[in-house]
Amino acid sequence: MAGVELTNIPLLTPYKTGKLQLSHRVVLAPLTRQRSYNNIPQPHAVLYYSQRTTKGGLLISEATGVSDTAQGYPNTPGIWTKEQVEAWKPIVDAVHAKGGIFFCQIWHVGRVSSSDFQPNGQAPISSTDKSLKPSVRANGIDVVEFTPPRKLKIDEIPQIVNDFRIAARNAIEAGFDGVEIHGAHGYLLEQFMKDEVNDRTDEYGVTLQNRCRFPLEIVEATVNEIGAEKVGIRLSPFASYMQAGDSNPEALGLFMAQSLNKYEILYCHMVEPRMKTVGEKSETPHSLLPMRKAFNGTFIVAGGYDREDGNKAIGNNFTDLVAYGRLFLANPDLIKRFELDAPLNKYNRETFYIPDPVVGYTDYPFLESTI
Ligand SMILES: Cc1cc2nc3c(=O)[nH]c(=O)nc-3n(C[C@H](O)[C@H](O)[C@H](O)COP(=O)(O)O)c2cc1C
Repeated sequence: MAGVELTNIPLLTPYKTGKLQLSHRVVLAPLTRQRSYNNIPQPHAVLYYSQRTTKGGLLISEATGVSDTAQGYPNTPGIWTKEQVEAWKPIVDAVHAKGGIFFCQIWHVGRVSSSDFQPNGQAPISSTDKSLKPSVRANGIDVVEFTPPRKLKIDEIPQIVNDFRIAARNAIEAGFDGVEIHGAHGYLLEQFMKDEVNDRTDEYGVTLQNRCRFPLEIVEATVNEIGAEKVGIRLSPFASYMQAGDSNPEALGLFMAQSLNKYEILYCHMVEPRMKTVGEKSETPHSLLPMRKAFNGTFIVAGGYDREDGNKAIGNNFTDLVAYGRLFLANPDLIKRFELDAPLNKYNRETFYIPDPVVGYTDYPFLESTI
């Protein structure tokens, strides 16, 4: 990339704060790929992530389980065993070899699971014992049944917070530059945050402050373990994935943005209100702007962005960085294509989650091979 003319493209301008030194604003969004057999990251992920690496570019890994109760999908990676940590190392090394900055998204699905994914076939854990209704997977095809969850007892909560702390330490041990705490999309943290799900009457329920206590405890523990400059969080206050909606998403998003300032974490990554359902943009009167203004650190937005509105968002200072999911999945050289305003490969939804080590994964063509 030639430096001078890039400044005309807001997405391709450098972003430098004390902590983050990026050469452009285009972030790889976390994308579950379900190719980590037995929860172990596989060698084929080396090629996948390095294809999407640019010098000075930020990548966020696919959601990665923090413990043996954290999983709810086949073949998603973990970071709670020594073997998993070792398996991540060559993948992280490959990203670093090309000059990329790599954060690991750490995850607990909570009740979005079934006993098949749980140790000893036990019930999944959650903020509640309310079950999810059977729902259609993000691929839009499969209908999934969930096992009714078990509401965590108050004295069990510190153990889950500790699992996130250890996962963060493991991520650093694996070589990652930091972690993104997965606080979005109806998974465990949102099961505490959102009032459609949280029916607790203890100090983790009822009020907004109480509902946010668990995610903020995770933030605090993670910051204490690896340092605030290595911690980000992803939130989707406006989404209602996995039957986790909130009656006042503005208040929730704003409260979290303000509360996070206390911990001085590196970034807050928010999913656009228009992403009400997975994969569909819809008109909405809501905006992330109040949260962007309230949060003191780096702000990342995601959800339905293309080159044009990404440039607009950066140009208008609506955000610092823009994460791209499906476009980056299908265009390993997305930054090059944005630079040249080149046509984009179309993503194939049918191969998003298949376990194949190549198809729909590392076989999307680069620009050179399409023209
Ligand atoms: C195949 C696929 C897997 C995804 N996996 C994750 C994930 O692991 N963690 C997460 O926070 N979001 C996940 N998402 C959501 C994306 O990060 C992103 O927010 C969403 O695709 C909207 O952005 P886009 O319009 O740029 O694709 C996933 C989306 C897709 C399509």
